[in-house]
Amino acid sequence: FSQTVNITAKAGDPNRIIDRNIYGHFSEHLGRCIYDGFWVSPDLNVPKKDRIRLDIVDALKKIKVPNLRWPGGCFADEYHWRDGIGPRDQRPKMVNTNWGGVTEDNSFGTHEFLELCELIGCEPYIAGNVGSGTVEEMAKWVEYLNSSAESPMTNLRKQNGHPEAYKVKFWGVGNESWGCGGDMTAEFYTDQYKRYAVYARNYKDAPLKKIASGANSDDYHWTETAMKNIGRRMWGLSLHYYTIPTGDWGKKGSATSFTDAEYFKTMKNCLHMEELVTKHSAIMDKYDPEKKVALVVDEWGVWTDVEPGTNPGFLYQQNSMRDALIAGTTLNIFNNHSDRVKVASLAQSINVLQSLILTDREKMILTPTYHVFDLYKVHQDAEYIPLSFTSPDYSVDGKSIPALNVSASKDKSGAIHISLVNLDPAKPIKIQTALEGQSWKSVSGQILTSAKLTDINTFDKPNNIHIEKYAGAKKQGSQLVAEIPAKSVVVLELK
Ligand code: AHR
Repeated sequence: FSQTVNITAKAGDPNRIIDRNIYGHFSEHLGRCIYDGFWVSPDLNVPKKDRIRLDIVDALKKIKVPNLRWPGGCFADEYHWRDGIGPRDQRPKMVNTNWGGVTEDNSFGTHEFLELCELIGCEPYIAGNVGSGTVEEMAKWVEYLNSSAESPMTNLRKQNGHPEAYKVKFWGVGNESWGCGGDMTAEFYTDQYKRYAVYARNYKDAPLKKIASGANSDDYHWTETAMKNIGRRMWGLSLHYYTIPTGDWGKKGSATSFTDAEYFKTMKNCLHMEELVTKHSAIMDKYDPEKKVALVVDEWGVWTDVEPGTNPGFLYQQNSMRDALIAGTTLNIFNNHSDRVKVASLAQSINVLQSLILTDREKMILTPTYHVFDLYKVHQDAEYIPLSFTSPDYSVDGKSIPALNVSASKDKSGAIHISLVNLDPAKPIKIQTALEGQSWKSVSGQILTSAKLTDINTFDKPNNIHIEKYAGAKKQGSQLVAEIPAKSVVVLELK
């Protein structure tokens, strides 16, 4: 080992909790996420409720998915909710202009989505249509979902089989309104937000957490304008940022074959999330020093070229050990900014972009990214423990990034969890810490790693990359000492 990294625990705020909603996911009508993902043909030989795939539901329950965002993405601003309710054989069809130009039969609509959330045990997060919808259309959708009073909308809901109000909380007012959601300026959108938000009512016992469409990556003007013009009239403000391996949207790079230099660039691009969250938060702090408005990173993840031979409009990509390091690193960033980041959604749960699960007819595989969410679920709603340290560098061609990233929390039982990512592909890192202010007697751990960064789980070898027991940590006097292997995600438990 070239050096030992000394980690010190800083004095924390006992009231600072890592919101479980940071561990949220995104499911758009895109490619095979909904259709042939969550929602399958009646003939498919898998356990189902209606047409919802229950093996997927079980896998998502295991990692405690806290919320699911739907119906888009870009799709949300072309979606008209009334096409997706009532008898399925009478629902109108539409063309999914954003994603492959395929015909959408609207068989998966509001009730089906809310049934899926109920089965998973997660909160729904619905994105309303601002780009091509009306204020009235959004207002009626909220009334249909959340009102318990007698009205034409609630009668319609009852007629469609749901007497009780759904009480949906998370409500997106548009998506990417600077782009596919209407190509608006920040000034124009923030005025529109106010119109739509006024009529998206808070019904009895069903207050909405309204989330404004936010910045694309480093568009700080957008955040500044939203904070100035909307301020506390929104519960949250969104931010979207994708890790593009090459940094070039025209040729993003392969999901399964990349050089050391490309890996370095990918991780540098992934770590850019730290700067984005820091700078957007600093702008929000100017207008909202009490941190009442949440930063909602409701689209993140690695976006590569599609798997060769698949529909380019379907965004189907494989998921490697590298992507697990991206997930672990990004979740550490969110944990470390959990004073402002309260909700996040990985794009996108099944068969699209950085997926948790890939399916091929009856078969399904859990990706390396899924396993990171499994390891990190211990942080959900736990008390945040701030740590400080100086990371060794990982360098390629004279350029460097920090090799180690870490976050820590204490759960309700008093157990401390530390998640560590060593993104250096070759060198292990030794750490030590006295974890000042914390008491513990024993340490155990779990690890996700693989021989090569390009390793993947396949339908033939679904367990190629899996969680294993980790025995590389021990208590030495009052110190925790551990060796974090190259290219690994480790989660330690101290009790
Ligand atoms: O996640 C894929 C797309 O990326 C979403 O539809 C859109 O919001 C973003 O540009």
